[in-house]
Amino acid sequence: MRRHDLLAELHRLLAPRTYLEIGVNVGGSMTLSRTRSIGVDPYFSVDREIMCDVHLVRTSSDEFFARQHPLAHFDEPLIDLAFIDGMHLAEYAFRDFVNVERFCHPGSVVVIDDMLPRDVPEARRDRSVPSGKPAWAGDVYKILGTLRELRPDLVCLEVDTAPTGVVVVLNPDATNTVLVEAADDVVESYVTPDPQDVPAEIMDRSRAHDPRALLDLPVWGELAAARTLPTDEARTRVGEAVRSLR
Ligand SMILES: C[S@@+](CC[C@H](N)C(=O)[O-])C[C@H]1O[C@@H](n2cnc3c(N)ncnc32)[C@H](O)[C@@H]1O
Repeated sequence: MRRHDLLAELHRLLAPRTYLEIGVNVGGSMTLSRTRSIGVDPYFSVDREIMCDVHLVRTSSDEFFARQHPLAHFDEPLIDLAFIDGMHLAEYAFRDFVNVERFCHPGSVVVIDDMLPRDVPEARRDRSVPSGKPAWAGDVYKILGTLRELRPDLVCLEVDTAPTGVVVVLNPDATNTVLVEAADDVVESYVTPDPQDVPAEIMDRSRAHDPRALLDLPVWGELAAARTLPTDEARTRVGEAVRSLR
């Protein structure tokens, strides 16, 4: 299954009230949204029909989140579904996740693209170096280790999508400050010269879920239902729904 097919299914199963996309490019993934949406990309050049109420913001994700009310296009500053697919360097994806989580509720779902590079050249930080492959995943895979180490409360699901794999993050917590406090050290650790030391389990996808099997689980309906609950109740319900996925 390709990453856009997974994303389309998540839109269908979750029926999100809001969708935030970081990295729009020509609009391929934005065409999947039918809900109130925001797309952020300093260089977007949309060349296809978009069928949702979208605010396209021509700026970097860092500048976007530094704004006073970045989600003013939504009725409430809450993200039900996010797709992080901007700059493919770990420090950018890390900051994107931290910023997205500030606007999440327990039932929110965050999809991060390019998390399972298939080989070391595909995971290079320097895109200008030819790798002989069309895809450039970069080293965003590094944030998976950070999330698992520092945030065991999150459920991070590796998913075997083409071409470069995604991670779906469940059970976010907008009140958790652990990542913000660790940010300087974490980001410094990411900036290492190529070639990157990509873990074998990332490249061979031995921990990755089959996307169809994952989509068939009842958890998506539970997450959508949790959105209508007060935060404490939602956290309990989501905790129960994701327990079997840990
Ligand atoms: C892989 S493309 C996005 C593809 C799109 N999500 C899709 O699936 O159809 C990555 C995009 O991220 C954008 N980008 C690069 N740096 C960025 C940043 N700092 N903030 C937001 N977007 C960024 C690029 O301009 C590029 O269009």
